[in-house]
Amino acid sequence: MHTRKSSLHGVAVTTAALALGLGAAVASAGNPAFLDLRGQRPVSGDAAAGKAQSTVCSACHGTSGLGVSPMFPNLAGQSATYLYVQLKSFNGGQRRNPVMAPMAAALDDAAMRDLATYFASLPAKPRDGAAAASPRGALLFKAGDPARGIPPCQGCHGKAGEGPRSAADVAGDAPRPPWSTIPRLRGQSAVYLAKALHDFRGGERAGTSNARIMQGVAKSLDEADIQALADYLASQ
Ligand code: HEC
Ligand code: HEC
Repeated sequence: MHTRKSSLHGVAVTTAALALGLGAAVASAGNPAFLDLRGQRPVSGDAAAGKAQSTVCSACHGTSGLGVSPMFPNLAGQSATYLYVQLKSFNGGQRRNPVMAPMAAALDDAAMRDLATYFASLPAKPRDGAAAASPRGALLFKAGDPARGIPPCQGCHGKAGEGPRSAADVAGDAPRPPWSTIPRLRGQSAVYLAKALHDFRGGERAGTSNARIMQGVAKSLDEADIQALADYLASQ
């Protein structure tokens, strides 16, 4: 769109705009630059400093990092690098949400690292025996459905959605490998998980290289798949 508009003013302007790079051109059009996370290094911060700033967060994400309503995701036990990347992309506009974006807008990079490190250090939600389990969701999560192009989720999110953070093949806890930008899913509410999958599928959450990976995955899922997967993961 930018290129077409520029071409009205002549080839020279178009060439200049292209020379600035696609990122600059997109940013000047009011859209945030796409965030390529392939080089993202594992994040570490000051958990105590993060705790000191977390009071405002606990109104929605709970004093122990567990969401106070199904719309608010659990942060406790999540990978610090994943949490940091999400705060950064809310802050930069690559991930949009009218409730969460203003929260992240107030944070500088150090605060994002510290808060991410603090919430990652809290104990993850214990298994919820009361949540609806789904054998169909379990099967999809573990094996996918190759005939329909659905990949096994466990390949990236861990055997039962525990995330790369606690995968048995990761020795110790630091430094986290770059792929810890992939989140833990187990214990997250079915409402939140289904919303996230809809956001990926519909393209609302597509501003980073990682969101694009999930966009491709979510496009292979229909409504019944999404519900089954969300129910299975919430019960883990
Ligand atoms: C008024 C409620 C509210 C407050 C306060 C709030 N959040 Fe959130 N947060 C949300 C909602 C809602 C979402 C889910 C957004 C979506 O659906 O995309 C979210 C999502 C997140 C995520 C992404 C989690 C994931 O699994 O992808 C992170 C990280 C986060 N919040 C951190 C924080 C931090 C740190 C603070 C304090 C500085 C904070 N939040 C304050 C409501 C809130
Ligand atoms: C190739 C690796 C890969 C596969 C396979 C994969 N995911 Fe993901 N998933 C990711 C990455 C990377 C992210 C982080 C996206 C972001 O930062 O926006 C993610 C994020 C998510 C989220 C958002 C979590 C949150 O807290 O907001 C959900 C839900 C999810 N995946 C579900 C699934 C399900 C269900 C499947 C199987 C049908 C699956 N994923 C398969 C890599 C993968």
